[in-house]
Amino acid sequence: MEKSDMERSNMDKSGMEKINVGNNPFLLPQPQVLVGAMLGDRVNFQAVAWVSRVNAKPAYMAVALGDHATRDGVVANGEFSINIPSVDLVAETDLMGLVSGRQVDKSAFFEVFYGSLSKAPLIRQCPVVMECRVVKTVELPADLIFIGEVVGTWTEERYLTNGMPDVAKVRPFVLTMPDNAYWAVGEKVGKAWHDGLPLRERLTSLL
Ligand SMILES: Cc1cc2nc3c(=O)[nH]c(=O)nc-3n(C[C@H](O)[C@H](O)[C@H](O)COP(=O)(O)O)c2cc1C
Repeated sequence: MEKSDMERSNMDKSGMEKINVGNNPFLLPQPQVLVGAMLGDRVNFQAVAWVSRVNAKPAYMAVALGDHATRDGVVANGEFSINIPSVDLVAETDLMGLVSGRQVDKSAFFEVFYGSLSKAPLIRQCPVVMECRVVKTVELPADLIFIGEVVGTWTEERYLTNGMPDVAKVRPFVLTMPDNAYWAVGEKVGKAWHDGLPLRERLTSLL
């Protein structure tokens, strides 16, 4: 369909202008996690912000890893962990993004335990941790995306409300780029699958 003059304009009726700031993907914010893998017999963790849930059932998670030691471990073993740190672990998490397991031994930094996968080291200090088995690897120009089936999610009673991890108790943090800042999660602003319901009458039914 032909676009209207208004749609082609970068200015709205009140004169507010949209400006193109280039092709930098400003995804604000991104969850901040630690991805773990085994390098031979040694555990290794790296800071990762490119992480997402990607399939409902089975439960799949995806992580995008550049050419780092952790990635070597995931390629070698087909298993990895996703560990959600709390705001108490900002500095520790950042350090895991500053140094490489190719140069230093990061294995003694956290207390580690295992679920059912022997090559997916889980961090005891993190409130919520997931062990994943790789089901698919996607090769991109710079990064490998590992899609992993979550075979176990571990937490503690103190982080739960009604049997589910409670964000107010877990206290995760998020990353913004390119200002490179960590932020705590702010206040609750709405109820999902609910707050849009009163606006339904603004839509025209197609049936
Ligand atoms: C805040 C932050 C977020 C990062 N996110 C990612 C990411 O999503 N993917 C990635 O490959 N590297 C990411 N990195 C870079 C790695 O964590 C970093 O290169 C690390 O030293 C690699 O460690 P390794 O070689 O022991 O695996 C991030 C670093 C920081 C500080």
